[in-house]
Amino acid sequence: MEKISASVVKRDHEAKISGEAVYVGDYPQEEILTGKMLRSTKAKARLVKVVVPELPEGYYYVDKSDVPGDNNVNIVKDDTPVYARETVEYIGEPIGMLCGPDETVVDQILSQIEVVYEELEPIVDIRDFDTVFFDYEIKKGDVAQAFAEADKVYEETFETGYQDQTYLETQGLMAEIMEDGKVFLHGSMQCPYYVKGALMRALGLGPDKVRIAQDATGGGFGGKEAFPSILGCQVAVAAVKAGQPVRCIFGRREDLEFTSKRHPSLSTYKAAVKNGQITAMDIDVKFNSGAYTTLSAVVLQRGIICANGIYNVPNLYMRGRAVKTNTTPTGAYRGFGAPQTFFSAEMLMDHIALDLGMDSLEFKEKHLVRQGDDTATSGKYHFHVPVPLMIDKVDKACDLRRKHKEYAKPQTGRYRKGIGVSMYFHGAGFTGSGERDIIKAVAKLRKFADGRVQILASNTDIGQGLRTTFPKIVAHELNLPLDKVFYNYPDTDVVPDSGPTVASRSLMTVGELLRRAAIKLREIWVEGKEQIVEEHYKEPDFMIPFYIDKFQGDAYPTYSWGVNAIEVEVDTYTGLTNILGAYGCFDIGTPMDYNIAVGQMEGGFLQGIGYASIENMKADAKGRIRNNSFSDYLIPTAVDVPNMQVIMHVDEKYPYGPYGAKGAGELPLVGAPGAYVEAVEQAMGKNVRLHHIPFTAEDTLRMLMEEKS
Ligand code: MTE
Ligand code: MOS
Repeated sequence: MEKISASVVKRDHEAKISGEAVYVGDYPQEEILTGKMLRSTKAKARLVKVVVPELPEGYYYVDKSDVPGDNNVNIVKDDTPVYARETVEYIGEPIGMLCGPDETVVDQILSQIEVVYEELEPIVDIRDFDTVFFDYEIKKGDVAQAFAEADKVYEETFETGYQDQTYLETQGLMAEIMEDGKVFLHGSMQCPYYVKGALMRALGLGPDKVRIAQDATGGGFGGKEAFPSILGCQVAVAAVKAGQPVRCIFGRREDLEFTSKRHPSLSTYKAAVKNGQITAMDIDVKFNSGAYTTLSAVVLQRGIICANGIYNVPNLYMRGRAVKTNTTPTGAYRGFGAPQTFFSAEMLMDHIALDLGMDSLEFKEKHLVRQGDDTATSGKYHFHVPVPLMIDKVDKACDLRRKHKEYAKPQTGRYRKGIGVSMYFHGAGFTGSGERDIIKAVAKLRKFADGRVQILASNTDIGQGLRTTFPKIVAHELNLPLDKVFYNYPDTDVVPDSGPTVASRSLMTVGELLRRAAIKLREIWVEGKEQIVEEHYKEPDFMIPFYIDKFQGDAYPTYSWGVNAIEVEVDTYTGLTNILGAYGCFDIGTPMDYNIAVGQMEGGFLQGIGYASIENMKADAKGRIRNNSFSDYLIPTAVDVPNMQVIMHVDEKYPYGPYGAKGAGELPLVGAPGAYVEAVEQAMGKNVRLHHIPFTAEDTLRMLMEEKS
């Protein structure tokens, strides 16, 4: 193991367990107004009028007419309003905010506000779409010819559901006007500079008039990537109107129903097979964006780029569409579009193998990409693809190959076993040219006269450990004791824009900037003097430039890899599935801290298992998300953690990441659904083919009953 991988106590550990850490909800209540949303109760309607009762002194109603700048939230596209425009587009859309000193009074007034709607016909089901927000195509080879020459053609449709991030701390932000007239917004977030850009636009203010800071944050998982830009504008507009601090913290129901979650998907795969080999795929992917575009463009890009799995398919046509429905806008969740398509690709491979009478593990191995092969976007796998080695490690851990054949034989009796296997990657960092063309990250180190070093970067610790791993990198390079290097919660008045904390980019991309800054600092180090060094991102030379208009080039500089096996036992009386073992081998290059890395892998793997098996969230016919509490949206709890083994494959050093590190945080969630559903499918018998997640106990029972009748 590399020296840097040796584990230390997490930097924020003490403060979090002792209760000292300051979350946005911890600021004393006096002088702060509580803000609460007036939300649409209709999925689609014209707002005829909003009748607000006469307000007691100190209470304010805020809506679109109070937005001093542009009533558009700066995300990727500008269709999300700060407060609803002339129409509402989903149930829960914020029409306005009521704020005041007493929360009970705020609630009372809110319940008295009368909203007159002229109802319009909403679109709720992804199948009924009439608006396409984004439409992308990836083309490679000659698909038509491959289909014409095929021995056999397959067509299957796969569906994946919502998944909510269910971070421990719900969304919450607070805004105040500082003495110098600056608007200061702080709280729970992943991307301070995204929020800053959004506030500047909505408030019509220059960069020196807006300040954003992160408070201790109880998890993000993608859910605090774009959403705080929206809530931030709403809260800031309220603070500007009231001339007082305003804080808005969501309740859990509100958070579950009305904040971004993973896009449900519906994908149709066609595959051409000749001589037992897949020669072409024609893939149509649809993601349900909900009412506004928010992050759908980039989530969809990542989703379709890996829609063919990690398999060499010489002829490819992949189309991806993000479509509008009148439901809560969906967004980023760990994996960012990839878990949906990897699930579909893995199930398709499994089904074709079963039909050909082959072992699906062997069938997948036969199609695996290798170093030097072209990617789906005609880029290259520049580095070693360690998947075969990782399959061997998983095989050793759980006797995968033997069991996979054993459980494929006919089973009788109440309990039946299956084992499923998935293999996949996570493209490390931003998709395409975002890093080079848009983010242009800058990071700095400040050395104080006393020899301590402060890290100046805008990346946030949301539980994944940056407040520990960043200092480890810098201390390691400078050969300093770890306690001489520190990293505070980012504040845009103090730190440069080193980009957002998304796409598992922070540790790899910004971590490397910090390592290089540390080398610079070491070279110019003068005792007793304050010194500052700065590093700018530069795209590695080996990359084949990516062009988004053609979907061509290296979508990612490198890839993290995963191989998962999940072994289950299905109770054919109750439909319950017991996970006997979950084995995950992960390659994230060099871990920057072994325990943190293992924690990331375990947590993500478990989230993936939840996504595959129990996390069931649906919008009803009216467009309302029905699962808004932890009693009807189930996520895995401590008692649901199966016998889980994480195997770190640490041998694939990425030369452009710090000490060989690659993107880590999202990888472990991506492959669990394929492995889990394959396992359940195998347990249920030879002719069973499953096509959706979550695959719940109710689904199992339904199938068993159908079989009987
Ligand atoms: N781990 C914890 N504990 N909490 C989180 O919110 N977010 C995940 C992942 N791991 C998350 C987490 C997501 S969505 C991302 S993109 C990555 O961490 C971010 O990793 P990075 O810091 O390397 O960018
Ligand atoms: Mo992570 S979904 O990219 O915040």
